[in-house]
Amino acid sequence: MKERVLTGDRITGKLHLGHYVGSLKNRVELQNQYETFLLLADVQALTTHFENPELIKDNLRNVALDYLAAGINPEKATIFVQSLIPEIAELTTYYSMFITVNSLRHNPTIKAESKERGYKDMYYGFLGYPISQTADITFCKATLVPVGEDQLPHIEQTRKIVRRFNQLYQPVLVEPKPLVGDVPRLVGLDGNNKMSKSIGNAIHLDSTKEEVNEKIKKAKTDPARIHKMDLGHPEVCPIYAYHQAFRKEDSEEIYQNCKKGQIGCMECKRKIAQSINDLLELMRERRVEYQNNPKKVDEILVTGTERARLVAKETMQEVREAMGMNYFTN
Ligand code: TRP
Repeated sequence: MKERVLTGDRITGKLHLGHYVGSLKNRVELQNQYETFLLLADVQALTTHFENPELIKDNLRNVALDYLAAGINPEKATIFVQSLIPEIAELTTYYSMFITVNSLRHNPTIKAESKERGYKDMYYGFLGYPISQTADITFCKATLVPVGEDQLPHIEQTRKIVRRFNQLYQPVLVEPKPLVGDVPRLVGLDGNNKMSKSIGNAIHLDSTKEEVNEKIKKAKTDPARIHKMDLGHPEVCPIYAYHQAFRKEDSEEIYQNCKKGQIGCMECKRKIAQSINDLLELMRERRVEYQNNPKKVDEILVTGTERARLVAKETMQEVREAMGMNYFTN
């Protein structure tokens, strides 16, 4: 049996190159090797966006299109919608019986996100989202969870919940392992160390050629280079970071030439805009096909959700049995 991978995204916005480099690219490879479940986390998106559910609705299809355009193959990977798997909510309730509030409050990612959002008090749903994420992972008994570094506390919490459940009742749940990529986080166009929609320093995967060219043209470079012949510091230049991410083949040469002042920022930008457009062009081709056939996209999500639901029902039955809560079935 193939190992099962589960991962997903909070669907609060369209995906950008940072998502591609950090996770999507890897998922496209993983789907060939593992049974892959991809979760569109609309419920988790609600924890911070409950005032704008319409935004979540739009992004459900946006993110699904981004997945498909990037090369996720719906024949291989199961793409599904979190809120349509009621067993996830049910498991969340059961797990929440034996998780203390303090263990959630001390989760470093919850702490950091809460601080970032300026919460004085935390919403119950927000505080508890690591429990709901545990349900996302365990309903399908995933063994591998590809995530970013920031998600490690949640996987650790998941492992604890699994061990506790198995020890309290019966060993029906599976302890997952995180799979953290080794690629550095993609910097933003403004040199900020994170490409992010909310900072406005991102190139989205659905960008046109003109949009890419325009954004690259305006992107920050090494501030010490005013004239073409000035000696460069590629290590502080976001454009050079993109060379490393998208033009590995000649990035060493670019590095040397920048240091010696032998390549100008304009030329460097032209090259990288070309490479990014080459990559996005492949996605654009796949994207139009699905965009012209929105029914097909809906069908993919409905079918994927049905497939996930079957697995969820099976696990739920085992969980209820383990807890002795299968009142009328035996
Ligand atoms: N919290 C994850 C993120 O922000 C998204 C997510 C929700 C997730 N459920 C998951 C990731 C289950 C892995 C497994 O990136």
